[in-house]
Amino acid sequence: MKASRSILIIDDEPEHCLVVSQALQSGGYLAEVANDGPRAIALCQQKRYDLYLLDIRMLPLDGIQVLQEIRSLHPEAQIIMLSALADVDVAVKCMKLGAYDFLSKPINFDELRITVANAMKSMQLQQEVKSLRSQINIQRSTDQLLGESAKMQELFHTVEQVARHDITVMIRGESGTGKELTARALHANSGRAHKPFMSVDCATLPEALVESELFGYERGAFTGAHSRKTGRFEQAGEGTLFLDEIGNLATAVQVKLLRVLQERRFTRLGGKEELPFKATVVTATNLNLERAIHEGRFREDLYYRLNEFVIHLPPLRERREDIPLLAKNFLDGFNRKFEKNVGDISPEVISLFMAYHWPGNVREIKNVIKRAVLLADDVIETTHLPDQHFSGHMSGLGAKDTVPATTPCAAGALKEIVRQEVSSLESRVIRQTLEACRWNRSLAAKQLEIDYKTLYNKMKEYHIG
Ligand SMILES: Nc1ncnc2c1ncn2[C@@H]1O[C@H](COP(=O)(O)OP(=O)(O)OP(=O)(O)O)[C@@H](O)[C@H]1O
Ligand SMILES: [Mg+2]
Repeated sequence: MKASRSILIIDDEPEHCLVVSQALQSGGYLAEVANDGPRAIALCQQKRYDLYLLDIRMLPLDGIQVLQEIRSLHPEAQIIMLSALADVDVAVKCMKLGAYDFLSKPINFDELRITVANAMKSMQLQQEVKSLRSQINIQRSTDQLLGESAKMQELFHTVEQVARHDITVMIRGESGTGKELTARALHANSGRAHKPFMSVDCATLPEALVESELFGYERGAFTGAHSRKTGRFEQAGEGTLFLDEIGNLATAVQVKLLRVLQERRFTRLGGKEELPFKATVVTATNLNLERAIHEGRFREDLYYRLNEFVIHLPPLRERREDIPLLAKNFLDGFNRKFEKNVGDISPEVISLFMAYHWPGNVREIKNVIKRAVLLADDVIETTHLPDQHFSGHMSGLGAKDTVPATTPCAAGALKEIVRQEVSSLESRVIRQTLEACRWNRSLAAKQLEIDYKTLYNKMKEYHIG
């Protein structure tokens, strides 16, 4: 038992308290004493004890009243009642009110030690269950594909439709758009949901290991193959085999994969026995496969075999309506994970988010919120955002020379940079004008020389007000 577990003994007989506290201290607990109910409640208001030993007959407050008070202050603490023989029915009533157990006076010290140890153990188990439950909740909330934009609604519909069939799906989209999450959603919505979901990252697996990872091997197939090992084809069973970053698969392995998909059979490396391949294949890539084919890095026949059905995931900048929902959801998730209570995201931050181009897509916003939750106390403000992301957007009006925090890597990046800067500036000007007009929209529209409806639409677009 941890020496740091603390116990408060509440009893109006000082000698009794002394012997009980000595017995508990010798058992490694920290024991303190309160000689009446009001003193005990005052102590509870300042400090959290793990366990309370509570006498029933006391003045001016009896054990039941003190029990109720402690329960409301520390619902998770354990309470053991101490009762004279005549008060056993009261002790039972106390258990109905949430006490863990009761001990009859005079106290048997062996019984005391065992009951206290059991109560501590039960509390620890309850805490573990609570923490596991919250982890499951986080898992659930982070594993769910979220989005209220028309594009995401369409995606959900497609996933539902396609998942019903054993069809080879290729998921395409920029990094962080949710390709893996979509692959898992396809599996979860399919008739194979209770079968395995096996994932292979073709980008990080060393070329020399890809084949043994996919096909498995027999004992003695190569130096170091001391025993038979099953590969992902086999492990996937009748479930889903997810080949992530398929564009990075070595060309030598591409041929072999194609053969497995066509013949629906394979053999372990070094083996003779042909095994059936029954899994449904889902692949994902953020590469331009067409260019890879053109440059001879990806087999055209495999490409056509894999893209029976293609799902394109839109980048976050093309579905900005989802930003507030995602941000709020990640805020809730990280609050639970880090046991924080950050209540909200400031409107200014939401405006910045709406104007930013999110090259890392959903993963990026998730990371930005994670960092902000760790830094913030009540509300996520612009000061909790990473400078390198938003510095260009946070500069004041008139800072015309600010270099935008954009990585101009993709074709068309200039257009995107300009668009973002304009959006960012526009949202700032609108917000400041509205503030100056005390949120009188007609007045603000007049000052901005735009009509009321345009102002209304822009406020909606930038989540102002
Ligand atoms: N629509 C969404 N709703 C909620 N969370 C999402 C959504 N899309 C992505 N995420 C989260 O963003 C992160 C990145 O998603 P995922 O790994 O599926 O992206 P990816 O497209 O496979 O990225 P990469 O190409 O870099 O491998 C994950 O933590 C995932 O949970
Ligand atoms: Mg991925």
